[in-house]
Amino acid sequence: MTTLKHYLQFKDFTADEYAYLFERAALIKRKFKTYQKHHTLSDRTLAMIFEKASTRTRVSFEAGMYQLGGSVVHLTTGDSQLGRAEPIEDSARVISRMTDIVMIRTFGQDKIERFASHSRVPVINGLTNEFHPCQILADLFTWLEHRGTDAQGRINPNALRGKTVAWVGDGNNMANTWLQAAALLGFKVHVSTPSGYGVNAEIAGVDCADCWQVFDHPLDACRGADLVTTDVWTSMGYEAENEVRRQAFAEWCVTPAMMAAAQPDALFMHCLPAHRGEEVLAEVIDGPQSVVWDEAENRMHVQKALMEYLLLGHQPMA
Ligand code: CP
Ligand code: NVA
Repeated sequence: MTTLKHYLQFKDFTADEYAYLFERAALIKRKFKTYQKHHTLSDRTLAMIFEKASTRTRVSFEAGMYQLGGSVVHLTTGDSQLGRAEPIEDSARVISRMTDIVMIRTFGQDKIERFASHSRVPVINGLTNEFHPCQILADLFTWLEHRGTDAQGRINPNALRGKTVAWVGDGNNMANTWLQAAALLGFKVHVSTPSGYGVNAEIAGVDCADCWQVFDHPLDACRGADLVTTDVWTSMGYEAENEVRRQAFAEWCVTPAMMAAAQPDALFMHCLPAHRGEEVLAEVIDGPQSVVWDEAENRMHVQKALMEYLLLGHQPMA
């Protein structure tokens, strides 16, 4: 029996735990690609609660849990009592008596924290207004796969130390989570957002002065970066601001010129869904430096490692 552990934000785990998860995800991915069974969670049930839309998070968690030998219950606000004002604490008490692990995508981080504090089983953040830790877990794994392996193709979890990520766009849940990752794993984030949409260090929960730097112009943020990344101008839940944001963000579009200002071997990432012609031009997202499809696929592999870790703890690498 492992002690009850949740994954509500990136900084919930240590650098050593991430090193384990990257190694484990690589093993799980290898087994998946070679059609080897990996039923470490047979008879376990994952409850997925979606209060916002999803494609990748739904498919990656659902397919991933079945591949681990378990099963899945899918709930949304509209088709459960969550949408009819049942207290989140009561929902947590009930759902966690019938399932083994819970993934929630919701609005405020406070909601997932209240759920977790009344849950008997591990709770995973599948995106809140403030954070998207599963996405950054996949992004880091993807980055390491492409730029952080040794001669035998094994991932070196320390390979990101001293690197630079350029964040172009909204100071949102993704930006906050990149900052937490930088503080923990020893890289730096160059942040460029339109005025009024900057990262709030208090909300992001980071107090490292040297792990991020603000740039007025996105091109300057990209200079010398090892990875350039962006996200939609309007995140889920902020749709009423769409028109105002379209105007404010017009210059925060990742262009070939920005990629050219980065390191010659820089990668481009986007958590998806993307809007070509808004936050990124098609030449970039569909170009040779883009690894967005690997990023999306890796959601599944890293989350399988994550669910296994939360339920079983460290496992032998075989
Ligand atoms: N990146 C991501 O979380 O995608 P979905 O919204 O499709 O789940
Ligand atoms: N920042 C985006 C990410 C979507 C996966 C949102 O919250 O809508």
